[in-house]
Parts: sequence; C-alpha cells; structure tokens
Amino acid sequence: MADKQTWSAESYGRDARFVSDLGADVVALLDPKPGERILDLGCGDGALTEEIAAAGAEVVAVDSSPDFVAAAKDRGLDARLMDGEALTFSGEFDAVFSNAALHWMVDAGAVLDGVSRALKPGGRFVAEFGGHGNVAAIATAMVAIARHRGADPALAHPWFFPTPAEYAELLEAKGFSVETIFAFSRPTPLPTGMKAWIALFRDPLFRQFGPEREEALDEVEALLAPALRDSSGKWHADYVRLRVAASLKPVF
Ligand code: BEZ
Repeated sequence: MADKQTWSAESYGRDARFVSDLGADVVALLDPKPGERILDLGCGDGALTEEIAAAGAEVVAVDSSPDFVAAAKDRGLDARLMDGEALTFSGEFDAVFSNAALHWMVDAGAVLDGVSRALKPGGRFVAEFGGHGNVAAIATAMVAIARHRGADPALAHPWFFPTPAEYAELLEAKGFSVETIFAFSRPTPLPTGMKAWIALFRDPLFRQFGPEREEALDEVEALLAPALRDSSGKWHADYVRLRVAASLKPVF
C-alpha cells in the first residue's frame, strides 16, 4: 500500500534512538519481576524488550514491521511478526507493555480487545504513547504543505492521540481498571534534526511529491523553525506523552 508506513531498523537506530532512551520511566512503572511473562507490544528494534528481559522476565516481543522483528531477533529476543490490532494470544501474560507504539494503531478498541485476551485475570497493562496535542506543530506544518502542494493532507496525520479522559473511558469499557493515567509535555531533542524526523516518520506523505520531495521537506522545516528550533540551531519535537497503568478486572 503506497500510504503505508514502513520501517528501517537502521534509520530508526540512527534518528530515533531517543525513543527507547526515554523509556526508563515507563519500564519502571511496569516493574517487571523475575519469572513474569510479559508481552512487549510494538517492540521496535527490541531495545526496551531487552531491558525488561534483563529484569528476569520472560518476554515475547511483537511488531508489525519485519525489519524491526529481525532487529529484535538479532538481540536474541523472542520476537514475532504480529499486527497489534489483531493480537492472537490468550490468557498467558502477567503484563502487556508498550512504549511509543500505540499511536500507530488507530483501532484502539481492537488493540485493547487483544491486550485483554492476552492477559491473565488481574494482569497489568502499562503503556506510554502520544497523547492529545502530540506533535501538533509538526502535523500542522505538514498539513499546510500537503494542501499547498495539492497532496492528501490525511497522510500528514495518521495517528491516534487520545486525551486521558477518552482513553480511560475506552479502557473501562474494555474491562480494565485504570490505576494511573496522565498526559505531559516532553519537548524532545532531535539529535539528527527535524528533516530526519519527518523523513523517518512520515515518508508516505513525502513520497507523494516525487522529485519535489526535498523541496517539500525544506518547506516544512522552514515553517517549523520559529517554534521548534532554538537560537543555537538545535531542534526538538513537540511531544505530549500519555502514560497509563491499568489492570484487567477479574470476571466473576
Ligand atoms: C511519538 O513518539 O510521539 C511519535 C513518533 C512518530 C510519529 C508520531 C508520533
């Protein structure tokens, strides 16, 4: 599919290593214990899966990108190719963990149905992903450029960024008891710059521009500079994180 996001573990490692580097707090919230069986949903290249495994847990990692699954397997992990909106596990995990992945899975109800099926009764769900307002300036600049150049603006914003209230309501409806849920701003330094971020995460939009791809990237960057580039030339992304810890209510 032309509008599908594809992933290269190599580019991700170069331009987005900060994603797993910033995952320590959510791993701490998971608090993995030796002997627990844990599912890492949307594992990327497995950097955080490895940390969870290092705590002594038995971890299964899933991702819908073959390149990520291969990279995670290269770390010696039990990594499997699976669509997060159609998880196939049944009652086998003490916890499901997810970092910076759920915003790519727009059918959040289907994701939570799969998480609920995968967990043992009382099992935990601990996740962090983009919350309402995440990358608002970046998305707005990409929508503007798409419109200006006659491209499809829907490709500029394909993500699910719920408010805490909206996501808490969905969790409750899917049988979870919410223990913690909150959103916070996390302006995130981009060591390799804004164009590298945009090219990595929104390639389907820029592919539409053919030979004018670089020009379109330059235009987005110029629109964003006043908001997201500091006086020393360093870029940051306007991230908003939603962090959640919930547990599956027992069924009587
Ligand atoms: C995020 O981690 O918030 C994110 C990453 C890439 C695209 C959109 C959001």
